[in-house]
Amino acid sequence: MKKFLDLGLQPLANKYLTRKEIKNKKKEQFYHLEVGFDNKTKLVSILNKVPSQKMFDNSYPYRSSMSKTMTESFKKLSKKIIRVFNPKLILEIGSNDGSLVKNFNKKKVICVEPCKNLAIITKNKGFKTYAEYWNINLAKKIKSNHQKVDLIYSANTLSHIANLDSVFKSINYILSDDGILIIEDPSLLECLKRVAYDQFYNEHIYVFSLLGIKHIINKYNLELFNVEKLKTHGGSIRYFIKRASNSKIKIHNNVKKQLKVELKYKMDKFKTYSEFKNKVEKSKKQLKAIFGKVKNKNKKIIGYGSTAKSVTVLNYCNIKSETLEYFVDTTPSKTKKYMPGTHIYINKYEKKLLDDVDYIFLGAWNFKEEIFKKEKKFIRKGGKFITHIPTPRII
Ligand code: TYD
Repeated sequence: MKKFLDLGLQPLANKYLTRKEIKNKKKEQFYHLEVGFDNKTKLVSILNKVPSQKMFDNSYPYRSSMSKTMTESFKKLSKKIIRVFNPKLILEIGSNDGSLVKNFNKKKVICVEPCKNLAIITKNKGFKTYAEYWNINLAKKIKSNHQKVDLIYSANTLSHIANLDSVFKSINYILSDDGILIIEDPSLLECLKRVAYDQFYNEHIYVFSLLGIKHIINKYNLELFNVEKLKTHGGSIRYFIKRASNSKIKIHNNVKKQLKVELKYKMDKFKTYSEFKNKVEKSKKQLKAIFGKVKNKNKKIIGYGSTAKSVTVLNYCNIKSETLEYFVDTTPSKTKKYMPGTHIYINKYEKKLLDDVDYIFLGAWNFKEEIFKKEKKFIRKGGKFITHIPTPRII
């Protein structure tokens, strides 16, 4: 791995602080957020990894069911899975609060979710749930209890696991001969194009490209047969994978197309990443200038969506509560808490909290359309948004 980007010292992204922790001046854990490119594997990853146990514990705050965009995307995919693959047994790695599995017959799905506060949600709804980390021991346990699975799905999870060899070895072990693996994660190409450097934080160990995925799965005799571009999480890719030995499924032209696009963008070359670094540094300067200008006019600025992504941005750009008064968010486990590092307060979302606000920083820029639709009144009254994607600007 060769380093191309330094985003400074950062707190652990999803560790929102309670009032008591702030009062007691709780010492937060910081790590050096550096990002590198591996010329051999074509993988892009953060260089200093935080152990999984420190991140995915019994009080993990992220809930995928909190966003309509995500639940609708899962619903659409579920229909497609039933229609096209009609699997007898589905395994979801990183099932979160069950927003995908709720679309399936309970007897046909197995959930894997190491965060116990989330695993309990699907367990209580009657889904077979393993509150454990995905590895070969768990794969063995599941196989002995349920035999092989014929569809494995994992969204925004595999990029959170450092040891990809263990991930794919375990998948390989449990997937039936004609089984299908579907992975979806933020797209590195979209991240580069949008200068979305906030896709990097301690949990996002990798931001995948097709180039990187192809390299790793080939080691396990797995093969891509289709890819789909998604709007979720600021531009994601859904990878459809089968065993190389399974010749019943034809390889869609989309695979070649995406590969071509990535090569055209020179994603296999280090130079592309060093150029990205220059864009990130420029983005920081421009965002700081916008905040400075608006604040000088004594305008009230708040944040919308206290995302893990905005933790990277605010800490990297050194924007604190003197500038951004508070965040609003709908996630119960985040609200009435404080942002890691910057200690900006997170209010429970209520429309009236926007009444005297002049500018809103789009922490959840990936839900821009959903938020704009919801906040028509704010926009009508002359309220403005600040975003750093793809270049810092006021909307
Ligand atoms: P997301 O972008 O998925 O998170 P992360 O960067 O942490 O992976 O999270 C979106 C956040 O925005 C989530 O905390 C919920 C919040 N949100 C609202 O408060 N209101 C909304 O209308 C939407 C769409 C999201």
